Amino acid sequence: MTSIPQTRAEWYGRPLSDTARDLLDRDAAAFIRQDGSTPCLNAVAKAEGIWLEDVDGRRVMDFHGNSTHHIGYGHPRLKAALKDQIDDLPFTPRRYTSAPAIALAERLIALSPHRGNGKVLFATGGSDAIEIALKLARVKTGRYKTLAFFDSYHGHGYGAVSAGGSGTDRTQRIGPLLPGGLLVPPFNCTACAYGFERPAPGAPPSDACGMMCARMLRYALEREGDIAAVIAEPIRSSPHVPPPGFWPEVRRACDEFGAVLIFDEIPTGLGKTGRLFTSEHQGVTPDITVLGKSLGGGMLPLAAVVADAGFDIAPELSLGHYTHEKNPLTTRAGLTTLQIIEDEGLVDHSRSLGDRTMARLAEMADRNPAIGRAEGAGLLIGVEILGEDGRRSKARADRAMWRAFSLGLNLKSKAGTLVLNPPLTIREAEMERALQIIEEAIA
Ligand SMILES: Cc1ncc(COP(=O)(O)O)c(C=O)c1O
Repeated sequence: MTSIPQTRAEWYGRPLSDTARDLLDRDAAAFIRQDGSTPCLNAVAKAEGIWLEDVDGRRVMDFHGNSTHHIGYGHPRLKAALKDQIDDLPFTPRRYTSAPAIALAERLIALSPHRGNGKVLFATGGSDAIEIALKLARVKTGRYKTLAFFDSYHGHGYGAVSAGGSGTDRTQRIGPLLPGGLLVPPFNCTACAYGFERPAPGAPPSDACGMMCARMLRYALEREGDIAAVIAEPIRSSPHVPPPGFWPEVRRACDEFGAVLIFDEIPTGLGKTGRLFTSEHQGVTPDITVLGKSLGGGMLPLAAVVADAGFDIAPELSLGHYTHEKNPLTTRAGLTTLQIIEDEGLVDHSRSLGDRTMARLAEMADRNPAIGRAEGAGLLIGVEILGEDGRRSKARADRAMWRAFSLGLNLKSKAGTLVLNPPLTIREAEMERALQIIEEAIA
């Protein structure tokens, strides 16, 4: 455990029951260890609504959920639909389609920015869907280069790792990556890579900056001249919100230099940011949207590529015909999840509770010098944790995260920011309790 940060090691030091210890020992013995997943903290016994309960009976509100739990864990309607589907038709082998797969594809096309002029492919994971999107861009343009942001993450397949900007994932230890994965600094008005001062929350970029991040992206597209695709999260799940006008500018540049615009909405799509599709915030229509995670309702693995119909140009190729492509069970999960999001008004709830939470965080920041600015959209919010010197403090945020965990709130700490990413089904009183825990954890 020597490589585990002290704060996490303290958590490991907490007394665990024999049941938990036994499961963790067996987990460590059975799984190939890897950063971020093995070893684990504990084993989950129950996941219901916004709650996780470990095998020792400790309950935490889950503000992490790998961004899968928009409709909460174990939604009764989804459980019932899947039980029915298992009885009716549990699988569709190749050569056949299934009614739920068709219905989900049709629904996504109707709801998506492509509004009736789209086409769909399904995969079981976000990373696989990204690979499909990259292939579509290559086939369409006859080019192979991609342009993405430093520090971005788009999945673990070779295509996704080669296109993405996660330094640790791009290790030479996995051998040569695909060629042509170009990177530019990301939009991030909180810590601008070009050194410009951050504007007030919601304010446009300063005249001095002139949205340098968008201009550099355009510059790279122009100078390279043969980039197949720009791939990015429209709101970065870190979270960072682009300055107003950023995506329209990038859209114009992509059109001018013949690049496909791929929006990775795997963690942020389906209402998390207060819009069904994150692209709606700046009114930009990408060429391809990739969804995943929450599409399976926090129960089943499902991802989707929704592309402009003009990408349906290579029927002679297999661009990603995965075994579970038209699986009736996973697609029924997607269809029911979309229906629940719509019937329960979760997108509006995400937007309105998100706005109220931002206001509450601003109040907390006024009276607590360790709390800095909040940034985000809908129910995806990052709040800066400041050190004695008034600058973001990773160490303090990490300590607060582990303290919050012990007080019953599971959230992420990222570069001195605590990330609030609850299910969209969360009630106001539960959010209030979470904010109290955050204040207590910081104190
Ligand atoms: C932005 C983004 N893209 C792609 C992925 C990959 O999705 P999956 O883990 O389902 O392969 C993730 C997963 O965390 C993600 O956050």
